[in-house]
Amino acid sequence: MCGIVGYVGDKEVAPILLDGLQRLEYRGYDSAGVAVVNGKGIEVVKAVGKLKELDGLITSNPPSGKMGIGHTRWATHGVPSDLNSHPHADRSGDFALVHNGIIENFQRLKDELGQKGHRFISETDTEIIAHLLAENYRGDVQQAVLSLIERLEGSYALAILSRHEPDKIFVVRKDSPLVIGKGQGENFIASDIPAFLKQTREFLILNDGECAQVTQDGVQIFNRQGEEIKREPLQVDWDAEQAEKGGYQHYMLKEIHEQPDALRRVMSNRIAPGKIELSELSLTPEQLRSYRRIQIVACGTAYYSGMLGKYVLEQLVRIPVEVDVASEFRYRQPLLNRQSLVIVVSQSGETADTLAALRLARKQGARVLALTNAIGSSIDREADQVLYLQAGPEIAVASTKAYITMVAAFYLLALYLAKVRGTVEEEQLTTLIAEVLRLPELAAETLISSEEMIKGRAQVYKLQENAFFIGRNTDFPLALEGALKLKEISYIHAEAYPAGELKHGPLALLEDGVPVLAIAARHSLYDKMLSNIKEVKARGADVTAITFAGQREIEESVDHVLYIPSVNELFSGVLAIIPLQLLAYYTALERGYDVDQPRNLAKSVTVE
Ligand code: F6R
Repeated sequence: MCGIVGYVGDKEVAPILLDGLQRLEYRGYDSAGVAVVNGKGIEVVKAVGKLKELDGLITSNPPSGKMGIGHTRWATHGVPSDLNSHPHADRSGDFALVHNGIIENFQRLKDELGQKGHRFISETDTEIIAHLLAENYRGDVQQAVLSLIERLEGSYALAILSRHEPDKIFVVRKDSPLVIGKGQGENFIASDIPAFLKQTREFLILNDGECAQVTQDGVQIFNRQGEEIKREPLQVDWDAEQAEKGGYQHYMLKEIHEQPDALRRVMSNRIAPGKIELSELSLTPEQLRSYRRIQIVACGTAYYSGMLGKYVLEQLVRIPVEVDVASEFRYRQPLLNRQSLVIVVSQSGETADTLAALRLARKQGARVLALTNAIGSSIDREADQVLYLQAGPEIAVASTKAYITMVAAFYLLALYLAKVRGTVEEEQLTTLIAEVLRLPELAAETLISSEEMIKGRAQVYKLQENAFFIGRNTDFPLALEGALKLKEISYIHAEAYPAGELKHGPLALLEDGVPVLAIAARHSLYDKMLSNIKEVKARGADVTAITFAGQREIEESVDHVLYIPSVNELFSGVLAIIPLQLLAYYTALERGYDVDQPRNLAKSVTVE
């Protein structure tokens, strides 16, 4: 799980590579490196640590050249170190390459190459690929690259330079993303579109098992048999501004503030007063009526959006819904058939476990609908149907605006299925649609009303080592998501429970001053929540409640209250999550941590 970039054109390459890598740093940031082609051959500069370490080396001694590749690493094989950093080269220096993915048969290949006299200097799986290329080279680099497809097992996106054909970057991919940006007299390669959005809007998406030759003047794509393929470029309409911090201190804060717009985008062309249409789904009403159950599969934050989706789908569509973490689902021999609709949820569209779950479901005859933010991603391409989240590029590792669009996509899907399957009266449907249409406005209000109060709470949370989040019904997955956000960026141990479950064990952990965040955003369960809040308060907990405007009596039972605008309780999730995201952000900020790039994590988890 790393970021790769490449450039060939008429400009000095090192600053372009560094700039591209900076935009991909969310994919990994424990070391970085570049390889540049010039009169000396292939010059490699790399450094352990964040990109600024590499930047320092390059600034003091810039490698000159107009073509090169770069890499930002998230370690899989071998600790972060200078030697394990990419690019890796073969012994002769004829081939240098960068890699995103994992080579599963690398030990076998390493032994085989070792017997032929190859010696390795790093602990990585990547270095063997450079040696394999040198071993397979018979006067044609393209052939040597194609031979990799036959030999390598696992996942890879590779960008390769060779002294034998020094005007070309060779790329090849399987199960790891790779895009080619087309410019005028210059071309780019990258793991993800935002890397070079500043330079171009035209991108060619490489499919699994394809390779390409990228030169200053053009791009040729080939299938695994070496036959050329014609492909139309994708026009990307994000502006470069969308991929920048836009004046905020961190991407995460910017992305939290972009949520009202993200909600507008996910709804646009899909929902209007009295109308809900998901015209991009090519499923007929008969097909939509034929499903007997829904299976949701995802990881992390996307999984929590699915848990929330379950409540909404079951309530509105009256269909059984199961939700699984993808890494568990793929090994539990799930029972699926043609009457199962499988929904996979993934911001990046590249999460390895979610992709494997998608493939497993399709193999068993189920239709797969993907909710994803990443156009051209593996999940986008392999699913039967796709609903794009339209959140725009999400750079911070901790997901916020993508999460909110996932939840909104479940609202839309539930309303649409309810309409097609006739499980909600028309009048009620019109009322529910009207409520959903208010959400972007109400999200904007929530942001304004909660930020200052949450900054105050962060002063208390920053001193804690433990925190508890509780809620019922749709508020329970929110509690899980709030706890995950706090854990991943502020490194505070946070646990979430269904509020009624505390007395079955966890209550033993509560004592004076332990912070409890209670979400009471369900009118119908408000009294039950109040009782649970009293239980924790009686054990001395410091309780902050999030509830609807107007519920003033709660003030007697808690230490702090944050009010969110009142809305139909089925849809309160996209509002109540906002203060929880802000709490995680400001607490991490107060503790002095790197909010956008928390330790040990990466944005796109393309390994199992
Ligand atoms: C947490 C977070 C992760 C991701 C998870 C799935 O803030 O971002 O838990 O939600 O790794 O990623 P995607 O949605 O890309 O499949």
